[in-house]
Amino acid sequence: MLRLKFSIVLVFVAVSVLACIKSESKRNEFSIADSKSYEASLFRQNCAICHGQEANGKEMDGKLIPSLRYGDAATKTEEEIYLQIKEGKLPMPAFKNQLTEEEIRRMVKFVRRDLQGKE
Ligand code: HEC
Repeated sequence: MLRLKFSIVLVFVAVSVLACIKSESKRNEFSIADSKSYEASLFRQNCAICHGQEANGKEMDGKLIPSLRYGDAATKTEEEIYLQIKEGKLPMPAFKNQLTEEEIRRMVKFVRRDLQGKE
């Protein structure tokens, strides 16, 4: 009887761990390289050089450029991401002269919805 209970608990734990792993990978499923969206092409032209092809961050001149999917970026509000792109924050350049207001707004949505899986 005890063994049966133990097995049930074990199955339950396994299922929850699997569910966790699955939701984590789902968030990261979006492929910028495969996307034909306008935002993805803006990303490839303007952001990939620093943040990496898939926005997972990368090392450049010994400095770590953050991922836009996980970590600190995922704790930022819509407004903070908007300002980061529009005004920049050294060493990231401002994009207010490269992108239109509409494009900046679309990039904020892109980061939050496509990369971070938020609404
Ligand atoms: C020249 C390199 C460079 C380019 C190009 C660049 N970034 Fe960045 N970005 C950075 C660096 C470096 C940081 C970290 C700044 C800091 O330490 O606060 C950053 C931070 C960010 C953050 C905040 C992330 C966080 O962890 O707080 C966002 C959002 C962001 N970038 C979006 C973009 C988008 C969207 C583009 C394209 C329109 C872009 N970046 C282009 C270098 C770049």
